[in-house]
Amino acid sequence: MTVNDESKKRRPLPHRETALVTGAGSGIGAAIAQRLAARGTDLVLVGRDSARLESAARRLRDEHGTEVLTLPLDLSARDAPTLLAKRLRDTGVEIDLLVNNAGVALVGPVAGADPGATRALVDLNAGAVAELTAHFLPDMVARGRGAIVNIASTAAYAPAPHNAAYGASKAFVLSFTRALWEETRGTGVRVVAVSPGAVETPMNRRTVPGKRQPEQTADTVMAALRGRAPAVVDGRTFAAQAFVFSRLLPSRTAGRIAGKFFGRGKGGGVAGE
Ligand SMILES: NC(=O)c1ccc[n+]([C@@H]2O[C@H](COP(=O)([O-])OP(=O)(O)OC[C@H]3O[C@@H](n4cnc5c(N)ncnc54)[C@H](OP(=O)(O)O)[C@@H]3O)[C@@H](O)[C@H]2O)c1
Repeated sequence: MTVNDESKKRRPLPHRETALVTGAGSGIGAAIAQRLAARGTDLVLVGRDSARLESAARRLRDEHGTEVLTLPLDLSARDAPTLLAKRLRDTGVEIDLLVNNAGVALVGPVAGADPGATRALVDLNAGAVAELTAHFLPDMVARGRGAIVNIASTAAYAPAPHNAAYGASKAFVLSFTRALWEETRGTGVRVVAVSPGAVETPMNRRTVPGKRQPEQTADTVMAALRGRAPAVVDGRTFAAQAFVFSRLLPSRTAGRIAGKFFGRGKGGGVAGE
């Protein structure tokens, strides 16, 4: 064995990136996991349905040879984000990229909504996003690298009657992420909110003009990671819509139009279930 061979052997392996994707068993989360695996990122997939997560994981391992860990968890449960962070710390898994994607919608007027489901929506869509960010961001800042993508929605850009808790939870995600973007400037950590408009997933089976496929939204996420903006809307039609609703229309008018859209022929219920 030559000296050169010896020095080659001692050279540390290049760092492999690991991403944590919530809601990765279906829809946008599954498409993001695919894109990340294709670029050689190892993955931690989180969701409630363990069979669905495991089958997504098998596909990613087979197609891309990446390491994939599945952690079935209900992230609306009070202790779930802490459990998740502890489990990863105990197993020595370092998260370089956090994708807060898991979410549910609750369509219908608040007066007819299940109070427990309303609370669970806020806990998942807003609470878990804030807590997971607070768990993983400090290590990223300490390392001087990392990224957090928070999936919001165009429903964040105006009041959303008949989808009120959902719109408000996404407004939280958008505002929280924009503030974090400012806080993390110069730290080497990239933080961005990505807002889809309408995407063909189990959550949204409606016919909507300009509706996108999850793979297109995943491409927007990958591009957003390479960019610098604090917030990105997925697709030109929906970007124009968000601009008009948040910047041009008075809030009351925007809310009235959004309410007509969300209230169209809906009896209420949790979307995606
Ligand atoms: N589709 C759209 O038109 C649209 C538009 C704007 C924004 N978005 C946002 O995009 C994100 C992804 O949604 P999607 O459209 O891809 O719908 P989806 O296919 O229903 O995905 C939602 C994911 O969240 C997971 N999830 C739900 N409740 C959970 C809980 N309590 N704990 C852990 N995971 C949970 C689900 O997995 P389990 O059921 O296995 O838990 C599922 O994989 C959401 O944040 C949504 O608000 C979607």
